[in-house]
Amino acid sequence: MSISEILNKVDPSPLPQAQEPQEAAALTHEEIKLLLAAEGEDKKKLFDRALQVKLARLDNHVHLRGLIEYSNICTKYCLYCGVRSKNPNFERYQLSDEEVIGCAKLAHQLGYGSVALQSGERSDKAFVDKITYLVKEIKKIDNGSLGITLSLGEQTEETYRRWFEAGAHRYLLRIEASNEDLYYKIHPRDAKHDFHQRLACIDSLLSIGYQTGTGVMVGLPFQTLDDLANDLLFFKKKDVAMVGMGPFIPHPDTPLWQYRDQIPTAEKRMEMTLKMIAILRLMMPEINMVAATANQTVDPQGREKAILAGANVIMPNLTPNEFRENYLIYPDKACVKDQPDQCQTCLDVRLAAIGHKVLYNAWGDSVAFTKKH
Ligand code: 5AD
Ligand code: FES
Repeated sequence: MSISEILNKVDPSPLPQAQEPQEAAALTHEEIKLLLAAEGEDKKKLFDRALQVKLARLDNHVHLRGLIEYSNICTKYCLYCGVRSKNPNFERYQLSDEEVIGCAKLAHQLGYGSVALQSGERSDKAFVDKITYLVKEIKKIDNGSLGITLSLGEQTEETYRRWFEAGAHRYLLRIEASNEDLYYKIHPRDAKHDFHQRLACIDSLLSIGYQTGTGVMVGLPFQTLDDLANDLLFFKKKDVAMVGMGPFIPHPDTPLWQYRDQIPTAEKRMEMTLKMIAILRLMMPEINMVAATANQTVDPQGREKAILAGANVIMPNLTPNEFRENYLIYPDKACVKDQPDQCQTCLDVRLAAIGHKVLYNAWGDSVAFTKKH
């Protein structure tokens, strides 16, 4: 089967003029692999089609989530992550309540519409109570006008429910690798890093009614094209509302650093991420997909490239600058020195240059999720 035949099968009416978008046909594992391996003209056709499908379904709108990196205190030690608890090489911090609320107010002033609260993983009572409080406080800003996404790792179903009832309505929990064997090559094999527990968390989030997001890193050591194809099929099977994927970036203070010479080049990891985004846009045309900051770290144009490949969400960092250097999940993270208002101008200009525009003052919910519920 040629790439054109596969693309036509997925979406026969991708143009904005099409009246009723037809339901996308399902892609098989083999077809996804062929698309992942596309080069030259074929690769260009894939990216062109993904952009057409996105523009037809979601227009040229980009949604913003003001990112608040609440704390780098973490009880886990994933083998890839720079803020893992076993890395003593930087200071641990937790923002004060005033700092968090200040960030959220700034997001509101800047017209971002939503905030995303992210943190190292903790599940003690003090943490759970604090987050409940902060969610409620953020909800008070301008009568609940800010949407709230949480990205706070694995928690009990009860905790997830409490935070949902407090006002959070989106939750991001990347599966990181949907292949159990690969999962245990990038996580310690212990009770704290249990693959089935992680799956169960994603299922809880879905059943509680969160717009649930998941995702993987691309270009991990030991990861194959079969793994990547299965990751995409996993997102489809779970019918998630949001996906975040970014290139793996080796961090010198982590165990996976030792494999840095055995993974694809940064350029290849970036390109594979873009293909993953493009193919998923064809498979799940109306979900929200983030142009992850990791893309921009690997390539200064990375975020724009991700938007052109099919992503529609950007998470500008609102964390006070003095803390950002201590939230280096991976090295050389982009925008660590930018001020929030600089970010905004920079984003508007960069997006206009590629024919996109920020939709200000809107929650920017996943269209796929809204239609389903
Ligand atoms: N490279 C790229 N992404 C990483 N993450 C963690 N460590 C790295 C790394 N070294 C991603 C994980 C996690 C998210 C918060 O950051 O996918 O879910
Ligand atoms: Fe698990 Fe940071 S320690 S992602």
